[in-house]
Amino acid sequence: MIRATTAREKQWRGMAALEIDNEFCRGLILRHGAQVISYCPADASDLLWLSKKCVLEPGQAIRGGIPVCWPWFGKDGNPMHGLARLNDWELVTAEDAPDGSTEVEMAFGGVPELDLTLRVIFGSSLRLDLTTVNRSGKEVRLTQALHSYFAVSDVARIRVEGLEHSPFLNALTGARESEDHSIRFQAETDRVYDESDVTCRIIDPAWRRKIQVAKAGSNSTVVWNPWIDKAHRMTDFGDDEYPEMVCVETGNVGRDAVILAPGSGHTLTAEIALV
Ligand code: BG6
Repeated sequence: MIRATTAREKQWRGMAALEIDNEFCRGLILRHGAQVISYCPADASDLLWLSKKCVLEPGQAIRGGIPVCWPWFGKDGNPMHGLARLNDWELVTAEDAPDGSTEVEMAFGGVPELDLTLRVIFGSSLRLDLTTVNRSGKEVRLTQALHSYFAVSDVARIRVEGLEHSPFLNALTGARESEDHSIRFQAETDRVYDESDVTCRIIDPAWRRKIQVAKAGSNSTVVWNPWIDKAHRMTDFGDDEYPEMVCVETGNVGRDAVILAPGSGHTLTAEIALV
């Protein structure tokens, strides 16, 4: 049900979408995957990145914005990154909040024993709350991520602050490593920072902007850029697009998996803002 004057349903490139336009921001969220595709704070360009080669078709993952990886992350199951990003969600509500922001809630019914909702608040920040409730009679192991793709001037000239000294799993080698400086990108990067609930900042001097990614209910941060060779291998990613993006993903991955007792719930939150 839409009770918002700041949200309207539309078709966006053939996909059912909700377009948000309020005093704080403009944004776009699709029914497919409940995927936020765009978030532009007032007077600013989009914080999110979308590939020019993204595939917009039922059953396909969309390369960009904020895919929801659930109920498993990566290769914990098949298909890669789970079911939620591949399917349509139900629009539950869209409401104007008293402070002028817009709250959207969608629900995914693809796994009968698990209730899944995503609440997105389009305001002076972009806040996502992904809530899972275990309706089954047995324990469930959940891995998940809000796989946010951020737009940057040039990935080789940015840095990600906040994870200095934090140990990480280098997914390219399988080795556990740590660094004493902020993250810089000079090659393919695929890291899982686990047991880490810190706030990160993407520092982009050329665009004079800092994007903050704060979180709750999350112990993992995944940092990814495919660089040249992997970009070539992905059919929905332009060969020359890797400098334009970086993924800083809020999740619970690997040994940070959430164990949900029967009847219990968990909320994963990411809050993204210009600072
Ligand atoms: C990241 C993973 O989260 O997602 C990478 O760490 C993976 O290993 C990337 O390549 C993209 O995955 P996909 O399934 O969207 O191509």
